[in-house]
Amino acid sequence: MSTTSAILTEQAYLCRRFTPAVEAELGRRYALCLNADDAILAPAQIAEQAEGANVLFVTATEIVDASLMRALRPTLHTIATLSVGHDHIDLAAARKLGIRVLHTPDVLSDACAEIALLLLLNACRRGFEADRMVRSGQWPGWAPTQLLGKGLVGRRLGIFGMGRIGRAIATRARGFGLRIHYHNRSRLAPELEDGAVYHDTLESLLGNADILMIAAPGTPQLKGVFDRRRLALLPARAVVINISRGDLVDDGALIEALQSGQVFAAGLDVFANEPKLDPRYRTLDNVFLTPHIGSATFETRDAMGWLLIDGLEALGRGEVPTNLLA
Ligand code: DGY
Repeated sequence: MSTTSAILTEQAYLCRRFTPAVEAELGRRYALCLNADDAILAPAQIAEQAEGANVLFVTATEIVDASLMRALRPTLHTIATLSVGHDHIDLAAARKLGIRVLHTPDVLSDACAEIALLLLLNACRRGFEADRMVRSGQWPGWAPTQLLGKGLVGRRLGIFGMGRIGRAIATRARGFGLRIHYHNRSRLAPELEDGAVYHDTLESLLGNADILMIAAPGTPQLKGVFDRRRLALLPARAVVINISRGDLVDDGALIEALQSGQVFAAGLDVFANEPKLDPRYRTLDNVFLTPHIGSATFETRDAMGWLLIDGLEALGRGEVPTNLLA
């Protein structure tokens, strides 16, 4: 492991490139090594390249399993992930090995809510087809029945996962005249619910979701939860948006529903097996696709980095930061 500074005692390895401001700060605090070309690393590559690191900076693209942690454990005390999601990290193994894990909640909620609305608007109003029509030179001119989509006013937005991001989506969606329904493990306090209709089962939410918004954190328990049976509970010609994790959705079932028109359109920012999504999505006109950019704003990516730095500083003072997972 080569280092950028000889006087710093703690070593850190950065698995992906962070924003320049955050990388500069990390370079001031740690003997920092980084994955210069920013390619996604497999666990075995990380184990080799990060050998000797005390702090490992990862993102949702790195699988941090028990064997990687065991390989780095002799020196590793903290894993800091530039993501709110932590389904890529074996938290139980981290606890067992005494490795602390930090993540980045809250600071990305607004950015993720913005992408959720971007997907929702583009799915409902046929953004992909509209853009293609203009860009391709195939626009024959305005016509009364051209590219008709679904209006939002008065429709029911069913949010699955009414945490910080789900609530940020609800706030914006109300401005478009959508009526908010949600399902969570437990009902929110009235001030957080803000008039939204609670459903104590996912099935009940689905039956009332003209637009389904998947915003729950990805967990192994939720894998494939939106299967053929559950998608069939949606009202006819519903819209499906996913900003959570791709593997919550059974791709085959959703694609079939999009092809038959049972689902009017989908807006997807996340996919199973990224970046190798099911190729059938690319062939569908009624799908609006973005490449996992929920938190991709300049401000948010800086804020995520600073939150990790603050968390590490707090740990150094013997405090328990709010963004500590394990
Ligand atoms: C998150 O923060 O979990 C986003 O999905 C980016 O990884």
